Amino acid sequence: MINNDAQSRPDPIAYLDQVAASAAGRDYKQQVLKLLDLHPGQTVLDIGCGPGTDLAAMAAAVAPAGQVIRVDRDPVMIAEARARLTEQPLIEVRSGDVHALPLDDGSVDRARTDRVLQHVADPKQVLAEFRRVARPGGRIVMAELDWEGLLIDSPQPAMSRALGQFLAAEIIRNATIGRSLARLCREAELVVRSVVTVAPVFRDFTTADQAFGLRRNVVRAIDAGYLKPDAEGWIDDLSSQPFLASALLFLVVAEIPG
Ligand SMILES: C[S@@+](CC[C@H](N)C(=O)[O-])C[C@H]1O[C@@H](n2cnc3c(N)ncnc32)[C@H](O)[C@@H]1O
Repeated sequence: MINNDAQSRPDPIAYLDQVAASAAGRDYKQQVLKLLDLHPGQTVLDIGCGPGTDLAAMAAAVAPAGQVIRVDRDPVMIAEARARLTEQPLIEVRSGDVHALPLDDGSVDRARTDRVLQHVADPKQVLAEFRRVARPGGRIVMAELDWEGLLIDSPQPAMSRALGQFLAAEIIRNATIGRSLARLCREAELVVRSVVTVAPVFRDFTTADQAFGLRRNVVRAIDAGYLKPDAEGWIDDLSSQPFLASALLFLVVAEIPG
């Protein structure tokens, strides 16, 4: 049986740290850092920074004279990101909404979104804001999931499909943002430099459960009528058998025409 703990939301800071520390998280975040192509002296903007993962790597890449500006609207994330700033003089955390970035026009060289556009009310407005605050030639690197690419192996594939449909329809605001990024960038008059996908494979139920809240969301999907109550037994079985799941992440690089 699923216990009550499985239904409660995990601590969001611990969740983001766990993802960043996982093998899959380290791998794609390293790719994002490379795609950002940071150089000493640049100003880099972290749009929807969360608690401040990848702090040291970004600051080191723009040191000694550059700046890392991190923006988030959640006071809990802002407090945590600021608490992690000890001995990081190049990093500043600003409270604000990414639809109206608290930055001057033409003031940044690079920007990143890491699983942020999937949650915002208007991704186009965020891209327009990037365009406003970026200098000519400025680059944005986006790492965003496409939730219809969440694949969970099961002898009962209809169950996996129903769970995926629930997540995409009811939980994630912009569930298919990954595949739409390049189009949205073109509409925002950005030049798309590259689009690649990363599809990490999870062969360990606990890691996949931490990343996607599988148990918790099965309970919610049952409540919402996407799954029948026997799905509790289904997810229990998946957790105790050889497990395999995969997810689809898009990494998109776009630039302001130079
Ligand atoms: C999934 S977390 C990702 C955090 C971070 N980018 C990382 O990789 O760990 C999404 C973050 O976006 C922030 N966020 C969502 N909508 C926002 C908005 N409209 N304005 C500012 N921050 C927002 C949330 O508060 C949260 O910290």
